[in-house]
Amino acid sequence: MPQQHHAAFPALVQGLLDQPARISPMYFYDTRGSTLFEEITRLPEYYPTRTERSVMQRAGGEIAAAIGTGRTLIELGAGSCEKARLLCRLIEPARFVGVDIATDFLELAVAGLRAEFPGMEAIAVAGDLHDTVTLPEDLPRNHRLVFYPGSSIGNFDPEEALALLQRVRGLIGDDGALLIGVDLVKDSEVLQQAYDDASGITAEFNRNILVHLNRLIETDFDPLQWGHVALYDPALARIEMHLQALSDQWVRWPGGGRHFRAGERIHTENSYKHTPAGFTALLARAGFHACQVWTDPLDWFAVVLAQP
Ligand code: AVI
Repeated sequence: MPQQHHAAFPALVQGLLDQPARISPMYFYDTRGSTLFEEITRLPEYYPTRTERSVMQRAGGEIAAAIGTGRTLIELGAGSCEKARLLCRLIEPARFVGVDIATDFLELAVAGLRAEFPGMEAIAVAGDLHDTVTLPEDLPRNHRLVFYPGSSIGNFDPEEALALLQRVRGLIGDDGALLIGVDLVKDSEVLQQAYDDASGITAEFNRNILVHLNRLIETDFDPLQWGHVALYDPALARIEMHLQALSDQWVRWPGGGRHFRAGERIHTENSYKHTPAGFTALLARAGFHACQVWTDPLDWFAVVLAQP
């Protein structure tokens, strides 16, 4: 029933009514959106994925030595577990716990890990990082390593990022650690292009959020009436993504609707960039006082090992 859809997503509907309107970036990731994001990670302009991989490869020996073997590895936002595979080879954990909102995809990926590392337990856990993640009761509490790659922390506002890091601190004991990927502040042209690629994949990813909403809450967005906007704000050190109305239009949904003027925007994502010093200060506020930082030769991306 349309009314039930509407009632189940009050924050989403409120965001559409806000001035300026906003949609949470978590709605990017329907099946099509997840596929488009995978394509983004392979774009020549989108440096974060390959740069993080290169840092992990170059510093692999040092990372492995600092972490040690036999840990309980917990990956947040695990998805395809592709990055965990590389890490498992390096640190030979005793067990792996993949946490993600979409568990269908995750279950398959975890089964793949189990086949590749027969001596390692591997389980999938449904969890939303905006909320408290509940791990199985019988999961050992000691020697945990939380892995949060891909600079997904950048999609949280600083206060939300702090709250997330504090929750991670709560998940690991005093002998636990966090290995996290962080995208760094850099030349704004490089950033701009990474979020507005020449082939238009990021634009399609951005517009797909409207297709997802049309299915989810029965809005009647015409995605072709919306343009992709990606802007770097150096003062806030963040890329902002917006959708901009290309014409005056009404958007309706069961029980409501609103008018958008041509040029009006819907804010769909922030992607914060950090400095190593700023990020380690944030980690310290969350209770992580010992940090090791590895970067690539251009200092575009950092992998940080943080311990209490
Ligand atoms: C998932 N996240 C870290 C990506 C980012 O770079 O902020 C999402 C993304 N948005 C546009 N391109 C990639």
